[in-house]
Amino acid sequence: MSFRAALHTALLALVLASLLQAQVFNVPVSEWGPEDEIGAANRLTPQKVLDASKLITTGKTYRLGIPIDSSTPAFPPRSMTITIVMPNQEGGETLSESLGSYVDDLYNGWLGIGTQLDSLAHFGFNRTFYNRREARDFVEVTGVTKMGIEKIPPIVTRGVLLDMAKQKGKTQLVEGEIISSDDIEAAQQAQGVKIEEGDVVVLHTGWLPMLYTNGTRFATGWPGIDVGAAEYLAGLKVVAVGADTMGVEVAPPPNITRLFESHQVLLTANGIYILETLDTRELIKDGVKEFLFVLGQPLITGTVQAIINPVAIC
Ligand SMILES: *[C@@H]1O[C@H](CO)[C@@H](O)[C@H](O)[C@H]1NC(C)=O
Ligand SMILES: *[C@@H]1O[C@H](CO)[C@@H](O)[C@H](O)[C@H]1NC(C)=O
Ligand SMILES: *[C@@H]1O[C@H](CO)[C@@H](O)[C@H](O)[C@H]1NC(C)=O
Repeated sequence: MSFRAALHTALLALVLASLLQAQVFNVPVSEWGPEDEIGAANRLTPQKVLDASKLITTGKTYRLGIPIDSSTPAFPPRSMTITIVMPNQEGGETLSESLGSYVDDLYNGWLGIGTQLDSLAHFGFNRTFYNRREARDFVEVTGVTKMGIEKIPPIVTRGVLLDMAKQKGKTQLVEGEIISSDDIEAAQQAQGVKIEEGDVVVLHTGWLPMLYTNGTRFATGWPGIDVGAAEYLAGLKVVAVGADTMGVEVAPPPNITRLFESHQVLLTANGIYILETLDTRELIKDGVKEFLFVLGQPLITGTVQAIINPVAIC
């Protein structure tokens, strides 16, 4: 090959590489239009609620949130504390002749702690977020002006629980262990459930008990979905993807130089919410596969995450 031809080939390769690089992640305009701020929550419909309500047979309710305190492991440097006060009652005073006493609480901390909901304002690609919004256009110190937690409607829909540990013949998957699209497909087959449009998908990995046996280990890595699985779930048009781990997507990732790419697939490209550190233990114990999922998140305007306690009803 002549030098010119070699140069030509090299240049072509460079151009191709840069094209590929640019295509690595192309944040699309929302399928619900350029003004859309709620993404996959658009798939929540009264019909979906009616259908999911038919899954209630025993009336048993399940708390999917975990209690948290200042020692709960969190994604660094997140932390929280509470302070309890009895304002103006320091000298033992009571209120008026009713002798009322009251206790108040102050919360000082991050909102991405414990069981949490990630909004579409939480994660982006190269400073571009869901629906091609640039960080500089909506991220303000006093709160995001688009896609905040308060914009999300009540998430009431069908929940599907897949026991991914059982699928791999274990009770607990371990850090770095990948849940692929094939695994999710096989689990649906084996467990006799099918993910449908508008569902909340919950993956049980068995990792949550690690929070109580070794909190450092729980928070350092975890099993979870890879990019292919995130794309697969996005293709099924779900509303949210959750798991009993701190990050839902596998950590450490297969390629350590590419962090949280499934967050980009779900939140940034597809407007699909992420639910972290769900407590799936009781549902698994009872052999639950589908349920009515109910979540009303705290409506703190302009926030991007919320500490939540979703409820499953069977
Ligand atoms: C990231 O954003 C910068 C600034 O907008 C831009 O120059 C660069 O091409 C982007 N990179 C990718 C891979 O899209
Ligand atoms: C907890 O996990 C960490 C990280 O895997 C490990 O280094 C440490 O030895 C564990 N601690 C205990 C008490 O098992
Ligand atoms: C990891 O991703 C980078 C690009 O971010 C790439 O250059 C590298 O080859 C990848 N490594 C592996 C092992 O796939």
